[in-house]
This record gives sequence, structure tokens and C-alpha cells, in this order.
Amino acid sequence: MSAVSQLPFPESFNMVFFGGAGDLVTRKLLPAMYQCHKNGLLVEAGHILCVDRQDLSEEAFLELADEKACQFIPTADWDAAVWAGFRQRLAYLRIDATQPEQYAPLKERLKKAPAAVTVFYLSTAPSLFATICAHLTRQGLNGPHSRVVLEKPLGHDLASANAITADVDRYFHENQVYRIDHYLGKESVQNLMALRFGNALFEPLWRRMWIRDVQITIAEDVGIGSRAGFYDKAGALRDMVQNHLLQLLCFVAMEPPASLDSNAIRNEKLKVLESLVPFTEEDVHQKTVRGQYRAGICGGKAVPGYLEEEGIPPGSHTETFVAIKAEIANWRWAGVPFYLFTGKRLPERLAEIVIHFHDVPHPIFPLPKSGACAPAKLVIRLQPDEFIRLYLYAKQPGDSMELQPVSLDLNFAEQFKVRRAEGGYERLLLDAIRGNQALFVRHDEQEQAWRWVEPILNTWANDPKGPEPYAAGTWGPAASLDLLRRDGICWHEGK
Ligand code: BG6
Repeated sequence: MSAVSQLPFPESFNMVFFGGAGDLVTRKLLPAMYQCHKNGLLVEAGHILCVDRQDLSEEAFLELADEKACQFIPTADWDAAVWAGFRQRLAYLRIDATQPEQYAPLKERLKKAPAAVTVFYLSTAPSLFATICAHLTRQGLNGPHSRVVLEKPLGHDLASANAITADVDRYFHENQVYRIDHYLGKESVQNLMALRFGNALFEPLWRRMWIRDVQITIAEDVGIGSRAGFYDKAGALRDMVQNHLLQLLCFVAMEPPASLDSNAIRNEKLKVLESLVPFTEEDVHQKTVRGQYRAGICGGKAVPGYLEEEGIPPGSHTETFVAIKAEIANWRWAGVPFYLFTGKRLPERLAEIVIHFHDVPHPIFPLPKSGACAPAKLVIRLQPDEFIRLYLYAKQPGDSMELQPVSLDLNFAEQFKVRRAEGGYERLLLDAIRGNQALFVRHDEQEQAWRWVEPILNTWANDPKGPEPYAAGTWGPAASLDLLRRDGICWHEGK
């Protein structure tokens, strides 16, 4: 396959959203398609069909789309005339996806607007994936130019994830299957590849000899919202670590791929996942911390604890915070800890990767007053703002030779006037239409990620102690800081 940038956009497409009246489609996917439309990235012959079992007329669906668009498209990007144009692309069809005979009208619709590419985006419960794939195939809707996009959660453990893969595999070939991890669509994640593989500068330093530790954080200030049913069965490890955090770790740790070819990139990510040191039960106790938020003050207002959220069973042990010390057993990374943090109801929304470099081997300057916890480091901020900041030491002006940390900054918003919404879906939707799988997760990556998290899941499930409490609006249980302190390391910015 040719390099990513050379893949042409097809002259026509049909995007079919299953679960089309649901939350993800109306809050995220339609607004993302609107942005693509607004930026002139969609061909004219591009149709979006939302199918759902909700009994809505086309007009009622369009009203719902209007209402959500106003809420979820940022004001700066909202243009009523552009939305009216985008709306022309939308259609709605009521289908109960479990009923084979209900696929006939779908087939009819698609026949009326034949397109070079048809993407079926399954934003439904995973238990429906196999059924939908089977019915699409039986209706003759699974051709060489049909693709299927699978939304997470893709399983709740290794066996269930493998079962989904096997079910979908019976109908769609792996090169038609697009497993979404929306973090991979974020501009800043792709920038990490640009930083590492577009500049020779960092490559010699990007290894155990020069890097002391890596910290990857995805912090959220929100709680679980209205997703109690889903979240209480999932927890932060399944919801964030198995996918988003491990994918970020792969982009930090992977070897340079030979090209931007989808499989060249995914082969390298897979090698990282295969090199993650597996956890024994003892390791789980030593190297992981799970937490659950209690009532507290978050974003200036009082919020309830996890156990008081509507729909959460009393005494639930589901974790809303995870800290893990991971290690990668290969020549580049042996001995370098990768600390992963994620949690809900933390003080702010923030995602970043911090690479700490070693201190100089022989210090000749007086130690800075800020103490020993400020070595040279590279901070890659993914959200809410996007920047790359390299902290170095410089001499303080004046007579002494005292050093202080200073920074070199690359702020993407200032550097590039064009901005793309940080959600990640725009790029992934366009890539699914183009047929570029580079930013989608291959089945073996997914399997390996589950294999690595499974001992943690099992050990936690058998541990009656449950997660450690932390007050909403704080940076998680104190034990997570001990994880670093034991190694003589501080969490970036002293969180
Ligand atoms: C989703 C999780 O995958 O990612 C959510 O299911 C989480 O629980 C969300 O809130 C975070 O995504 P983002 O793009 O807002 O950081």
C-alpha cells in the first residue's frame, strides 16, 4: 500500500452510522463530519445515513441532529448556512439491527445512491457486531469496497475481545475492519510521530541511556456522567488504559517504522506491546494503584462520590483512577519505567506525555533551589492545549553560577493558524473513507493489550480490599505518588 498522504479520497462514499440516533453519533461523529464538510474535505457525492431502532421520522431525526449540533459544535466553527448544506447529506432509517428482514430497506437506500466506498460504522453494543456483519453480508452489502468501523469497548477481557474478532472475521477481512481508538485521531498524537521520525535530533537520545522515565497522563475533571451502566462494568483500566494509554505508550516507545504504511506502523506498535513485561500477582500489588473518587470539590463545585452517582451499585469496587508502573523488555527501554496515570474527577482535564532525561553525570554547577526534581524534560501536551516544551537548565542572570529551569516552546495554535478539533474523530472518519488503516488498531495489537492488562484485572477482582478512596478534585490516592517516590522520581509539576 502507498504512503498515507498519497491515498486518494474516493469520488463518492456512503457513511452508514449504526446507532445513528445515539449519543456518540449525534454528539461526536456528526459534528466531526460537519467539520470535514465545512473544511471542504468531503466530496459532493458523500451521503450519511443514520440507522437506529428509535422510531423517528426523518424530520424528527434532523431536528435532533440540529439540536445536538448547536450544543456540540464549538461556537467558533458554527455556521448556520454551512450546517444547512451539511444537513442535505443526512438521512435516517429506522432499523432493528437484529431483524434480518429490516436490512432490505437499507439495501434499497444504498442501491439508490451507489458509491465507490461504503463505510458501516458500528456505534452499537459490541454484542450486535456479529449480527450486523452477518446481515450486511447476507444482503450483499459486504463488497470489496465496504468497510466496517468498530467502536469501543471491544470486549471486557481477552476472551471476549477475541470472540468479537472471530465473529467479525467470519464476514469481513482484517483489511476491511477499522477498530477505533479516537486518541489516534488526535493531531497531537500524530505530531509525536512527526517529532520522533521527522527530526534526527531526538532519535539518539530516545533510549535508556538518556531517558530516566516516561510519564503518560490522561486526567479528566468530569465524573462518569450518565454512563453508570457501562462504566461500573468497565472501570478505568478497561476504559482508558487497555486502549488509549497503551496506544500512547506505543507511539513513544516504538522503533521507527520503515514507512507510513499501515502495517509498517502497526507492526512496530505490536512489538512494543509484546515487549511489555507481564505482571505477576505480586507485581500488581507493587506496581499498580487503583482509586475511586469520593465527594469533593471539582471545578469549583461540590460533586458526589462515585458510590453516590445514579445507577452505581452500593459498595462497587470499580476503579475510577489507575496508576501503573510499566516496563518494556527490549534493548531500547530495559530499565526505564513508564508510569501511566488516568482518572476521573481529577483537578483538571489534561493529557500529556513527559519524557524525563537523566541528570548530568557529573554536576559542576550548584544545584538549583527548586531541588532535585527538575531534570531536563520534554513535555508533549496533547490536550486541552497542544504544545511541545523542552525544559533545560540555564544560568540565572547575575554573578552566581546558579542554574534554573527554562523552556523552549512550540505551541501549535500559535505556529499553525489552521486548527482541527482535538476530538480525533475527523481524521479517523476521513481515513476510514480513504481506506487508510494506519491509525486504527489491528486485531493482534488489541489482543496483546488485553493479554497485558488481564493479570491486573484478575488480581484486582480477587482482592477484597478494593480501590483506594480519593477526594474528587485531587490528583488521586496518595499511594500513586509513592509509586514514583519509591523510585526517587516526582510526578511532573509535583502533582
Ligand atoms: C473514552 C472513554 O474512550 O475517552 C471516556 O470511554 C473518556 O470515559 C474519553 O471520558 C476521553 O476522551 P477525550 O478525547 O475527551 O480525552
